[in-house]
Amino acid sequence: MLIQQAISVIKGSGLVAFPTETVYGLGADATCSAAVSKIFQIKNRPLINPLIIHVASIEQAEAIGVFNQDAYALSKLWPGPLTIIMPLNRAASIASAALAGLTTVALRIPAHPIALELITESGTSLAAPSANPSGYISPTRYQHVEEHFNQEDSGVLTLRDPVKCQYGLESTIISVTDEAPVILRSGFIGRQLLESILGKKVASAVPSSLISAPGLLGKHYSPSVAMRLEALNLLDCEVGLNFGQSRLEGNFSLNLSKQGDLIKAARNLYSDLRKLDNYAVLNSFKAIAVAPIPLTGLGIAINDRLKRAATS
Ligand code: TXA
Ligand code: MG
Repeated sequence: MLIQQAISVIKGSGLVAFPTETVYGLGADATCSAAVSKIFQIKNRPLINPLIIHVASIEQAEAIGVFNQDAYALSKLWPGPLTIIMPLNRAASIASAALAGLTTVALRIPAHPIALELITESGTSLAAPSANPSGYISPTRYQHVEEHFNQEDSGVLTLRDPVKCQYGLESTIISVTDEAPVILRSGFIGRQLLESILGKKVASAVPSSLISAPGLLGKHYSPSVAMRLEALNLLDCEVGLNFGQSRLEGNFSLNLSKQGDLIKAARNLYSDLRKLDNYAVLNSFKAIAVAPIPLTGLGIAINDRLKRAATS
Protein backbone atom coordinates (compact mmCIF):
# COMPACT_ATOMS: atom_id res chain seq x y z
CA MET A 1 0.00 0.00 0.00
CA LEU A 2 1.08 3.54 -0.77
CA ILE A 3 0.66 4.67 2.82
CA GLN A 4 3.13 1.98 3.94
CA GLN A 5 5.59 3.26 1.36
CA ALA A 6 5.02 6.82 2.59
CA ILE A 7 5.75 5.76 6.18
CA SER A 8 9.06 4.26 5.12
CA VAL A 9 9.92 7.40 3.15
CA ILE A 10 9.35 9.48 6.33
CA LYS A 11 11.37 7.03 8.42
CA GLY A 12 14.14 7.21 5.81
CA SER A 13 14.31 11.05 6.10
CA GLY A 14 12.48 11.63 2.81
CA LEU A 15 9.57 13.88 1.85
CA VAL A 16 5.90 12.95 1.53
CA ALA A 17 3.16 15.25 0.25
CA PHE A 18 -0.16 14.57 1.93
CA PRO A 19 -3.69 15.95 1.85
CA THR A 20 -5.06 17.89 4.79
CA GLU A 21 -8.46 19.53 5.19
CA THR A 22 -6.83 22.91 4.35
CA VAL A 23 -4.17 22.47 1.64
CA TYR A 24 -1.61 19.78 0.78
CA GLY A 25 1.39 19.64 3.07
CA LEU A 26 4.97 18.66 2.23
CA GLY A 27 6.00 16.60 5.23
CA ALA A 28 9.25 15.43 6.76
CA ASP A 29 10.23 13.94 10.12
CA ALA A 30 10.35 17.07 12.28
CA THR A 31 13.04 15.58 14.52
CA CYS A 32 15.48 15.00 11.67
CA SER A 33 17.50 18.02 10.48
CA ALA A 34 18.51 16.37 7.21
CA ALA A 35 14.87 15.69 6.34
CA VAL A 36 13.78 19.20 7.34
CA SER A 37 16.56 20.76 5.24
CA LYS A 38 15.18 18.99 2.18
CA ILE A 39 11.88 20.85 2.61
CA PHE A 40 13.58 24.26 2.58
CA GLN A 41 15.73 23.27 -0.36
CA ILE A 42 13.02 21.85 -2.60
CA LYS A 43 10.59 24.72 -1.89
CA ASN A 44 13.30 27.33 -2.15
CA ARG A 45 11.99 28.57 1.19
CA PRO A 46 13.87 31.23 3.14
CA LEU A 47 15.55 29.58 6.14
CA ILE A 48 14.09 32.26 8.44
CA ASN A 49 10.55 31.01 7.80
CA PRO A 50 9.56 28.40 10.42
CA LEU A 51 7.40 25.34 9.69
CA ILE A 52 4.19 24.11 11.31
CA ILE A 53 4.70 20.89 13.30
CA HIS A 54 1.87 18.43 12.65
CA VAL A 55 0.92 15.94 15.35
CA ALA A 56 -1.86 13.40 15.83
CA SER A 57 -2.73 13.80 19.52
CA ILE A 58 -2.69 16.26 22.41
CA GLU A 59 -0.11 14.10 24.21
CA GLN A 60 2.20 14.34 21.22
CA ALA A 61 1.64 18.11 21.11
CA GLU A 62 2.36 18.48 24.85
CA ALA A 63 5.76 16.90 24.36
CA ILE A 64 6.62 19.68 21.88
CA GLY A 65 4.88 22.83 23.12
CA VAL A 66 4.17 24.35 26.52
CA PHE A 67 0.38 24.58 26.83
CA ASN A 68 -1.17 27.37 28.85
CA GLN A 69 -4.90 27.66 29.58
CA ASP A 70 -5.59 29.39 26.24
CA ALA A 71 -3.76 26.69 24.31
CA TYR A 72 -5.74 23.94 26.04
CA ALA A 73 -9.01 25.76 25.39
CA LEU A 74 -8.23 26.20 21.69
CA SER A 75 -7.03 22.63 21.31
CA LYS A 76 -10.70 21.63 21.53
CA LEU A 77 -10.86 22.69 17.88
CA TRP A 78 -8.38 19.92 16.97
CA PRO A 79 -8.30 18.00 14.77
CA GLY A 80 -9.06 20.96 12.54
CA PRO A 81 -7.85 23.97 10.54
CA LEU A 82 -6.18 25.78 13.45
CA THR A 83 -2.48 26.26 14.20
CA ILE A 84 -1.53 27.33 17.73
CA ILE A 85 1.78 29.05 18.44
CA MET A 86 3.16 28.56 21.96
CA PRO A 87 6.53 28.38 23.71
CA LEU A 88 8.70 25.43 22.72
CA ASN A 89 9.03 22.66 25.30
CA ARG A 90 12.75 22.51 26.02
CA ALA A 91 12.65 18.75 26.18
CA ALA A 92 11.32 18.50 22.62
CA SER A 93 13.59 17.03 19.97
CA ILE A 94 12.37 19.13 17.03
CA ALA A 95 15.12 20.02 14.53
CA SER A 96 15.97 23.68 15.12
CA ALA A 97 15.92 24.34 11.35
CA ALA A 98 12.17 23.56 11.40
CA LEU A 99 11.66 26.34 13.94
CA ALA A 100 14.03 28.74 12.20
CA GLY A 101 15.79 29.00 15.54
CA LEU A 102 12.74 30.46 17.36
CA THR A 103 11.80 29.49 20.92
CA THR A 104 8.14 29.20 19.99
CA VAL A 105 6.51 26.42 18.00
CA ALA A 106 3.48 26.28 15.67
CA LEU A 107 1.43 23.13 16.31
CA ARG A 108 -1.53 21.63 14.48
CA ILE A 109 -3.53 18.40 14.49
CA PRO A 110 -4.95 18.11 10.98
CA ALA A 111 -8.34 16.48 10.46
CA HIS A 112 -7.73 14.56 7.24
CA PRO A 113 -7.65 10.79 7.85
CA ILE A 114 -4.68 10.27 5.51
CA ALA A 115 -2.67 12.96 7.33
CA LEU A 116 -3.55 11.49 10.71
CA GLU A 117 -2.63 7.97 9.63
CA LEU A 118 0.68 9.12 8.19
CA ILE A 119 1.63 10.96 11.39
CA THR A 120 0.49 8.17 13.71
CA GLU A 121 2.10 5.35 11.78
CA SER A 122 5.36 7.21 11.17
CA GLY A 123 5.70 7.49 14.94
CA THR A 124 6.98 11.06 14.77
CA SER A 125 5.74 14.61 14.28
CA LEU A 126 5.82 16.04 10.77
CA ALA A 127 7.17 19.43 9.83
CA ALA A 128 5.03 20.43 6.87
CA PRO A 129 4.59 23.66 4.94
CA SER A 130 2.17 23.87 2.02
CA ALA A 131 3.41 21.70 -0.86
CA ASN A 132 4.21 24.48 -3.35
CA PRO A 133 7.36 26.36 -4.30
CA SER A 134 7.82 29.22 -1.83
CA GLY A 135 5.64 32.21 -2.75
CA TYR A 136 3.45 30.41 -5.31
CA ILE A 137 -0.23 29.45 -4.98
CA SER A 138 -0.88 26.70 -2.39
CA PRO A 139 -2.02 23.27 -3.67
CA THR A 140 -5.55 22.03 -3.02
CA ARG A 141 -5.40 18.98 -5.34
CA TYR A 142 -2.75 16.29 -5.73
CA GLN A 143 -2.32 17.34 -9.37
CA HIS A 144 -1.16 20.78 -8.14
CA VAL A 145 1.51 19.14 -5.99
CA GLU A 146 2.69 16.90 -8.80
CA GLU A 147 2.95 19.86 -11.19
CA HIS A 148 5.81 21.11 -9.01
CA PHE A 149 7.15 17.99 -7.38
CA ASN A 150 6.68 14.87 -9.46
CA GLN A 151 8.10 11.77 -7.87
CA GLU A 152 10.56 10.93 -10.61
CA ASP A 153 12.39 14.27 -10.59
CA SER A 154 11.92 15.38 -7.01
CA GLY A 155 11.68 12.11 -5.07
CA VAL A 156 8.57 13.43 -3.29
CA LEU A 157 5.92 10.76 -2.78
CA THR A 158 2.40 12.20 -2.99
CA LEU A 159 -0.51 10.62 -1.17
CA ARG A 160 -3.49 11.34 -3.38
CA ASP A 161 -7.01 12.23 -2.37
CA PRO A 162 -9.30 12.22 -5.43
CA VAL A 163 -11.24 15.27 -4.21
CA LYS A 164 -10.22 18.88 -3.59
CA CYS A 165 -9.14 19.82 -0.04
CA GLN A 166 -12.20 20.55 2.10
CA TYR A 167 -11.49 24.18 3.09
CA GLY A 168 -8.95 25.18 0.44
CA LEU A 169 -7.29 27.89 2.58
CA GLU A 170 -4.41 27.41 5.00
CA SER A 171 -5.17 27.05 8.72
CA THR A 172 -5.92 30.00 10.95
CA ILE A 173 -2.77 30.76 12.98
CA ILE A 174 -3.15 32.11 16.51
CA SER A 175 -0.34 32.87 18.90
CA VAL A 176 -1.09 32.33 22.61
CA THR A 177 2.50 32.92 23.65
CA ASP A 178 1.52 36.12 25.47
CA GLU A 179 -1.40 36.98 27.73
CA ALA A 180 -3.16 38.63 24.76
CA PRO A 181 -3.72 36.13 21.94
CA VAL A 182 -3.04 37.33 18.37
CA ILE A 183 -4.28 36.01 15.04
CA LEU A 184 -1.26 35.83 12.72
CA ARG A 185 -3.11 34.37 9.73
CA SER A 186 -6.87 34.39 9.11
CA GLY A 187 -8.63 31.24 7.98
CA PHE A 188 -11.78 29.15 8.24
CA ILE A 189 -11.82 29.51 12.01
CA GLY A 190 -12.68 33.16 12.54
CA ARG A 191 -12.10 35.64 15.31
CA GLN A 192 -15.60 35.32 16.77
CA LEU A 193 -15.25 31.62 17.45
CA LEU A 194 -11.75 32.10 18.90
CA GLU A 195 -12.99 34.89 21.20
CA SER A 196 -15.96 32.87 22.37
CA ILE A 197 -13.72 29.93 23.24
CA LEU A 198 -11.12 32.07 25.01
CA GLY A 199 -13.61 34.40 26.64
CA LYS A 200 -11.48 37.43 25.76
CA LYS A 201 -10.57 39.76 22.92
CA VAL A 202 -8.27 38.44 20.22
CA ALA A 203 -6.17 40.90 18.21
CA SER A 204 -5.10 40.60 14.58
CA ALA A 205 -1.47 41.25 13.80
CA VAL A 206 -0.82 44.01 11.30
CA PRO A 207 1.23 42.31 8.58
CA SER A 208 4.13 44.80 8.78
CA SER A 209 4.54 44.17 12.50
CA LEU A 210 4.86 40.40 12.11
CA ILE A 211 8.48 40.12 13.09
CA SER A 212 7.79 36.77 14.69
CA ALA A 213 6.22 35.36 11.53
CA PRO A 214 8.40 36.15 8.54
CA GLY A 215 6.37 33.97 6.19
CA LEU A 216 3.30 36.03 6.83
CA LEU A 217 4.90 39.12 5.36
CA GLY A 218 4.41 40.56 1.92
CA LYS A 219 4.13 38.67 -1.33
CA HIS A 220 2.78 35.16 -1.07
CA TYR A 221 0.33 32.76 -2.69
CA SER A 222 1.06 34.52 -6.00
CA PRO A 223 0.38 33.53 -9.61
CA SER A 224 3.03 34.25 -12.27
CA VAL A 225 1.01 37.03 -13.88
CA ALA A 226 -0.10 40.22 -12.11
CA MET A 227 -3.37 40.55 -10.20
CA ARG A 228 -5.86 43.42 -10.08
CA LEU A 229 -8.30 43.35 -7.17
CA GLU A 230 -11.77 44.90 -6.73
CA ALA A 231 -12.15 44.89 -10.52
CA LEU A 232 -15.49 45.99 -11.96
CA ASN A 233 -14.63 45.38 -15.61
CA LEU A 234 -12.24 43.23 -17.60
CA LEU A 235 -9.44 44.87 -19.61
CA ASP A 236 -8.30 43.39 -22.94
CA CYS A 237 -5.14 42.01 -21.41
CA GLU A 238 -6.89 40.32 -18.46
CA VAL A 239 -8.60 37.07 -17.53
CA GLY A 240 -11.25 37.29 -14.82
CA LEU A 241 -12.22 35.78 -11.50
CA ASN A 242 -15.84 36.43 -10.59
CA PHE A 243 -17.80 36.06 -7.38
CA GLY A 244 -21.59 35.86 -7.17
CA GLN A 245 -23.27 38.15 -9.69
CA SER A 246 -20.11 39.97 -10.80
CA ARG A 247 -19.58 40.23 -14.55
CA LEU A 248 -15.92 40.21 -15.51
CA GLU A 249 -16.69 38.94 -18.98
CA GLY A 250 -15.33 38.90 -22.50
CA ASN A 251 -12.10 37.00 -22.13
CA PHE A 252 -11.59 33.74 -20.25
CA SER A 253 -13.13 33.93 -16.78
CA LEU A 254 -14.20 31.71 -13.88
CA ASN A 255 -16.60 32.19 -10.97
CA LEU A 256 -15.60 31.29 -7.39
CA SER A 257 -19.26 30.76 -6.51
CA LYS A 258 -22.19 31.91 -8.61
CA GLN A 259 -24.40 31.69 -5.52
CA GLY A 260 -22.05 34.02 -3.64
CA ASP A 261 -21.19 31.29 -1.13
CA LEU A 262 -17.95 32.23 0.66
CA ILE A 263 -17.23 28.68 1.83
CA LYS A 264 -17.42 27.43 -1.74
CA ALA A 265 -15.35 30.41 -2.92
CA ALA A 266 -12.58 29.62 -0.42
CA ARG A 267 -12.51 26.03 -1.57
CA ASN A 268 -12.21 27.07 -5.22
CA LEU A 269 -9.86 30.02 -4.78
CA TYR A 270 -6.44 28.43 -5.33
CA SER A 271 -7.49 25.97 -8.02
CA ASP A 272 -9.23 28.74 -9.97
CA LEU A 273 -6.21 31.03 -9.61
CA ARG A 274 -3.99 28.25 -10.96
CA LYS A 275 -6.30 27.65 -13.94
CA LEU A 276 -6.39 31.38 -14.72
CA ASP A 277 -2.63 31.74 -14.29
CA ASN A 278 -1.90 28.81 -16.61
CA TYR A 279 -4.36 30.12 -19.19
CA ALA A 280 -2.95 33.64 -18.98
CA VAL A 281 0.62 32.48 -19.42
CA LEU A 282 -0.25 30.23 -22.38
CA ASN A 283 -2.35 32.86 -24.12
CA SER A 284 -0.30 35.96 -23.32
CA PHE A 285 -2.77 37.67 -21.00
CA LYS A 286 -1.02 40.02 -18.59
CA ALA A 287 -3.12 39.85 -15.45
CA ILE A 288 -5.93 38.26 -13.45
CA ALA A 289 -8.71 40.69 -12.54
CA VAL A 290 -10.64 39.70 -9.42
CA ALA A 291 -14.15 40.93 -8.61
CA PRO A 292 -14.86 42.40 -5.14
CA ILE A 293 -15.41 39.82 -2.42
CA PRO A 294 -17.25 40.89 0.75
CA LEU A 295 -15.07 41.48 3.80
CA THR A 296 -17.26 39.42 6.13
CA GLY A 297 -16.83 35.96 7.64
CA LEU A 298 -14.59 33.79 5.49
CA GLY A 299 -14.34 36.72 3.06
CA ILE A 300 -11.73 38.18 5.46
CA ALA A 301 -9.38 35.24 4.89
CA ILE A 302 -10.07 35.17 1.14
CA ASN A 303 -9.32 38.90 0.81
CA ASP A 304 -6.18 38.47 2.90
CA ARG A 305 -4.82 35.81 0.51
CA LEU A 306 -5.81 37.87 -2.55
CA LYS A 307 -4.06 40.94 -1.19
CA ARG A 308 -0.84 39.04 -0.61
CA ALA A 309 -1.10 37.35 -4.00
CA ALA A 310 -1.42 40.79 -5.59
CA THR A 311 1.59 42.28 -3.76
CA SER A 312 4.39 42.85 -6.25
O1 TXA B 1 -3.12 24.75 6.69
C1 TXA B 1 -1.92 24.87 6.93
O2 TXA B 1 -1.48 25.51 7.90
C2 TXA B 1 -0.95 24.16 5.97
C3 TXA B 1 -1.14 22.66 6.11
C4 TXA B 1 -0.15 21.87 5.29
O3 TXA B 1 -1.07 22.29 7.47
N1 TXA B 1 0.41 24.56 6.24
C5 TXA B 1 0.90 25.78 5.95
O4 TXA B 1 2.25 25.93 6.21
O5 TXA B 1 0.22 26.67 5.48
P1 TXA B 1 3.12 27.16 5.67
O6 TXA B 1 4.52 26.84 5.98
O7 TXA B 1 2.80 27.40 4.24
O8 TXA B 1 2.66 28.35 6.56
C6 TXA B 1 2.99 28.34 7.94
C7 TXA B 1 3.14 29.73 8.46
C8 TXA B 1 4.36 30.42 7.91
O9 TXA B 1 3.98 31.67 7.40
C9 TXA B 1 5.28 30.60 9.11
O10 TXA B 1 5.99 31.80 9.07
C10 TXA B 1 4.31 30.57 10.28
O11 TXA B 1 3.32 29.66 9.88
N2 TXA B 1 4.96 30.07 11.50
C11 TXA B 1 5.43 28.82 11.76
N3 TXA B 1 5.99 28.76 12.99
C12 TXA B 1 5.87 29.98 13.52
C13 TXA B 1 6.25 30.56 14.78
N4 TXA B 1 6.86 29.86 15.72
N5 TXA B 1 5.95 31.86 14.98
C14 TXA B 1 5.30 32.59 14.03
N6 TXA B 1 4.92 32.10 12.83
C15 TXA B 1 5.20 30.82 12.57
MG1 MG C 1 2.60 28.18 2.39
